Amino acid sequence: MSEIKCIGVLTSGGDAPGMNAAIRAVTRAAIANEITVKGIYRGYRGLVFDEIEDFKTQNVSNIIQRGGTILKTARCEQFKTPEGMQEAYNTIRKHGIDALVVIGGDGSLTGARCLAQKYNLPIVGLPGTIDNDLFGTDTTIGYDTALNTIIECVDKIRDTASSHERLFFIEVMGRDAGFLALNGAIASGAEAAIVPEISLQKDQLAEMIEHGFRKSKNSSIVLVAESDVTGGAMGVADRVKKSYPQFDVRVSILGHLQRGGAPSAQDRILATRMGVAAIEALLEDQRNVMTGIQNDKIVFVPFAKAIKKNKPLDPDLLDILNAVSK
Ligand code: F6P
Repeated sequence: MSEIKCIGVLTSGGDAPGMNAAIRAVTRAAIANEITVKGIYRGYRGLVFDEIEDFKTQNVSNIIQRGGTILKTARCEQFKTPEGMQEAYNTIRKHGIDALVVIGGDGSLTGARCLAQKYNLPIVGLPGTIDNDLFGTDTTIGYDTALNTIIECVDKIRDTASSHERLFFIEVMGRDAGFLALNGAIASGAEAAIVPEISLQKDQLAEMIEHGFRKSKNSSIVLVAESDVTGGAMGVADRVKKSYPQFDVRVSILGHLQRGGAPSAQDRILATRMGVAAIEALLEDQRNVMTGIQNDKIVFVPFAKAIKKNKPLDPDLLDILNAVSK
C-alpha cells in the first residue's frame, strides 16, 4: 500500500499551453486512486506564502482546452533561499501533503530536485515548457502548440515578405535552445535557422553570406533563436544590412504570443498521459523523476539527468532544412 494520501500540484516558471491539461490529468488520476489533491497557486511562491486550495474533480472541469495555467505561475526568488525553502516545507507539512507534482521547465525541476533532496520528499516533475530543452524526453508540454503558433505567424509574414520582396529575420523563443527555431523553420518553409547550438561552433551568418546568401530568391525568411549567442534577430539584421545594403531587411520578434493559445491535440494528449503517469509513478514509489516521452512511450528520467542542459539538437534536421531551402 502506498503511503501517499495527499499530493500537491503546482505550475512554475514560464507557462506553456497544455499545463491545464496536465493539472486536470494529475487531479483526476489522483482522485481516482483516492488521493486528496491540493492546488498550489503561483508555483513555489504558493508554498512559501501558503496559497493553497483543495482541488476536487470540478476544479479542473472545462480547462483542457485553455492556454496558460489556472494555478498561475511565478518565478519565486524567496524559494531559492534556505529560509524560503524551509517555509515551503512548513506549508507542505501544515497541509498534510505527502508528495508533489511539479509542472514546469528547467528552473522549476531544479527547484523540485533541491526540495526533494533536502527534505526527502517524493516529487515527480512534468516537463512543461515551450522550449523543449529538457533532456530525456523527445518533446515537452507546450512545444508543439508553440511550433504551430510560429508557423501561423511565419505564414502571414511570408505574404508581406513576398509582396515587398523583403528579407525577414523572425526571432523566436527558446531561451538557450534552438528547437523552436530549427523545427519552426522546417515547418514554415523558411530559408534558414540561426540557432545557438550551431552559432557556438561557427558563425552561421558569415557562412550564409559567404555562400551567396539569398542568391536565387526575391524574398526570404530566416528564423533566429533568441540568445546572446545568436545575437537575436536585431543583431543578425544589423550585420546583414552592413554586408548587403541593397537588401530590404525587416525584423519581427514573435515574443510572448508563442506562449499563448489553446493547446494542440498533441500537447493535450502528452499532458494527459504524463499527468496520469506521474500519479502511477508516485504510487509505485518512484521519486525525484521527470516523466518523459521517448519513441511514444512514457519514461521516467532522474531530475539530475533531465536538467543537465545538454539536450542535443539533431544535426540531421539542419541538413534537411538546408536541402529544401536552396
Ligand atoms: O522558458 C520559456 C520562455 O518562454 C523562454 O523561451 C523565454 O526566454 C522566457 O521563458 C521568457 O521568460 P519571461 O516570460 O519571464 O520573460
